[in-house]
Amino acid sequence: MRDMTERRLIAGNWKMNGTHADLGALGAFARLADEMPGVDVALALPSTLIFAAAQLAGDTPLAIGGEDCHHEVGGAHTGCVSAPMLAAAGATFTLVGHSERRTDQGETDDDVRAKVEAARGAGLGVILCVGETEAQRDAGEAETVVARQLSGSIPNGAPGDLTIAYEPVWAIGTGRTPTIQDVAAMHDHIRGWLSYRFGKHAARIRILYGGSVKGSNAAELLAVGNVDGALVGGASLKSDDFRPIVEAAG
Ligand code: PGA
Repeated sequence: MRDMTERRLIAGNWKMNGTHADLGALGAFARLADEMPGVDVALALPSTLIFAAAQLAGDTPLAIGGEDCHHEVGGAHTGCVSAPMLAAAGATFTLVGHSERRTDQGETDDDVRAKVEAARGAGLGVILCVGETEAQRDAGEAETVVARQLSGSIPNGAPGDLTIAYEPVWAIGTGRTPTIQDVAAMHDHIRGWLSYRFGKHAARIRILYGGSVKGSNAAELLAVGNVDGALVGGASLKSDDFRPIVEAAG
């Protein structure tokens, strides 16, 4: 049997983009997932689109997920969405700890860990995002910061359905990417950390690279050891931009 990490995952993240009018494109994403059976294809979507998107994806292999979840199952938290709500709407996974939430909403590793637990409790897979700022990289702290985020954000116990997305904050939406050597070093570092923490179970955990992935750089990034897929923002909004990334993973 192929090791799980040999099967790549390409996940899109629409962020705060898209309305019902944009879901006409979902068919093209679903077809892409169908055409590329060797690659797992997923879209993390705004909460308002999840139910309809999951209906449109239907029985196709396209997975629909959330971009965040609250750490509680319900209650007086105006404007928030819980993990069971995502699951009931048809999501099968959720992102947690994206740097935009860590920055915009001030989420800490403790907050993120509680969200991972909530997502697990609702039966959702988790894509946990980590990554250093430019100042932290310049100070030579990138690996320490990422290790601290991993140990602070991953709950005790077995890993469950866990994926790690390494996203250097300074590479997100900027068109800049780390050097291939830096990507390789960080992914090796994360793989080593996971092996230390989870022993043989670490082999099931995929490590995605995220930050300005596009059709023109996907093949090079996906060829790096321990890069098991990609988390894609801007280039996931249109299926024509997303397609070459998925094809590069095939
Ligand atoms: P980007 O975003 O591909 O637009 O850089 C990646 C992300 O934030 O997940």
